Amino acid sequence: MPQSNTNKILKVLVFIGSVFFVLSSVFVIWKNYPLISEYYFPSSPSNSPRFFTSDFSTPIILKNDDFIVYYVGAIDNQLEIFDLLIPTPTGSSYNSYLIHSLKEDTFILFETVHEDHYQQLHYRLKNVIPVGRMVDYLFMSHMEPDHSGSFALLMNSPFASFKHTQLIASNEGLEYLSRMHHFDLEDISSIAVSETKQWQELNLGGLEVNTRLTKYVHWPDTTTTYLKQLKTVVTGDFFGAHYCPQNAWDDVSLIIRTDNVIDDSEWVAAADLYAKVIFGHLPEAGLHVINVLNEIDDSIENVFDTHGPVTVGRDASKSLRELYSSILTPLPPAKRRNKDSFLVLYISSYSYTQEMALAVADGIKEVSNVELIDLSMPPNDLMNRVRTASGVLIGTPTFVGMPLPQIWNILTELNPVIDRGTYLGFFGSYGFDPKRCALPKLETYVKEILHVRLPLQSAGYQFRATSEELEDLKNWGRIFVELVNSNARDFQEFDSMFSRAIQQ
Ligand SMILES: Cc1cc2nc3c(=O)[nH]c(=O)nc-3n(C[C@H](O)[C@H](O)[C@H](O)COP(=O)(O)O)c2cc1C
Ligand SMILES: [Fe+2]
Ligand SMILES: [Fe+2]
Repeated sequence: MPQSNTNKILKVLVFIGSVFFVLSSVFVIWKNYPLISEYYFPSSPSNSPRFFTSDFSTPIILKNDDFIVYYVGAIDNQLEIFDLLIPTPTGSSYNSYLIHSLKEDTFILFETVHEDHYQQLHYRLKNVIPVGRMVDYLFMSHMEPDHSGSFALLMNSPFASFKHTQLIASNEGLEYLSRMHHFDLEDISSIAVSETKQWQELNLGGLEVNTRLTKYVHWPDTTTTYLKQLKTVVTGDFFGAHYCPQNAWDDVSLIIRTDNVIDDSEWVAAADLYAKVIFGHLPEAGLHVINVLNEIDDSIENVFDTHGPVTVGRDASKSLRELYSSILTPLPPAKRRNKDSFLVLYISSYSYTQEMALAVADGIKEVSNVELIDLSMPPNDLMNRVRTASGVLIGTPTFVGMPLPQIWNILTELNPVIDRGTYLGFFGSYGFDPKRCALPKLETYVKEILHVRLPLQSAGYQFRATSEELEDLKNWGRIFVELVNSNARDFQEFDSMFSRAIQQ
């Protein structure tokens, strides 16, 4: 065959090959466009902060021959108030940790971040995980949305997929997550941490993990986890603080602390507020975690918490346990109350309820100590006095069928969990109709909603109590003390004209 013909054939073949190559590339790009676009331009919730000014690097927290631990969390230095409750003057962070287990080449991610800050998690993961490569394991300590909010975004990103990433959380946590992100638990691969009093041992691609359910620290689904080879605890929100180191937005490595954070008074103040608000209502649960961790005391070096500085180094982890124990003083509600110190609180427009309050206090005085407080001039520490008293008797007139707002102010401050074990009782003057008196309404609120103890039926009298009725009230106050001191749980009827009238 002549040379020119061979050249022609070759040229045609190259041309066809090039066309085929271009077409197949276009096809592959077209097919994978969502993945590629998601990789370079991750989905962003509409209210996300101006992420492009941030430092998206991925600092290394720990490194040895077997593992590299990266910080992949999100900094939010603009946050002003967290969960509608905690002022955060320095902002906060949502910490996530990516562990690369080198021998088995697996990636284990601990926690996602608040949905609004997903880009930070994404770009930090992108620095470490090659395109198309997935997160092998996702471990979630609890499902509050500040840590689980970007779960769906992550699972639809190039780093993971519902089918391939194995999710580890407590049974409750898995249920909560499926409700939050509307997926069927059967569609994902998961390992459930069950409720036992022992550590549950797992091996996540070479990472040896001991984990256990530590309920109500602070959600019912919370786990505490110990990473054996890294001598690290992953505590969910416990040991954290809503605190953002200055300049961490520009230099994310500032979130990692190797010094003793306890020496930083600004951080300690933030931790004190955080621990009291988040864990203070059930100090026993938090103290249990500290006890469990103290059992492995000698080996713990680092704490990977979910808010504020990541603490690396043995002293830090020990100091955190000591600090948190001192904040969460073991005061279960029964022990929180002083012995033999009763409160009589009242409000009164024409002094009829006030006269009754004096009689009630006289009755208590026969058997115990009592303090009388006029709620039209309440002391600043009123709620503290209510919470530490042996029992509290509250007097109110009826105005338009209701107790006065000062009474509701106290009752709505009380909480069935925090204040369980509190003893209450109600008395007061009404004018028109015992059946429409405020006192039975207060009883209903306590019995049906507040669930604190109400040992004795209310004592109400029309307008001004007679001297006999004031004697009744003295008895009523004394009986209340006796019932409190005998730890009564049952409601007892008090025989008076009032109770007979409202039962008719
Ligand atoms: C604005 C106002 C509304 C009242 N509404 C009721 C009511 O709905 N039912 C009732 O039994 N008495 C009602 N009363 C009567 C008071 O409960 C009664 O006068 C009572 O004795 C006041 O007690 P005090 O002197 O301790 O404030 C009302 C009184 C006022 C001034
Ligand atoms: Fe939380
Ligand atoms: Fe949190």
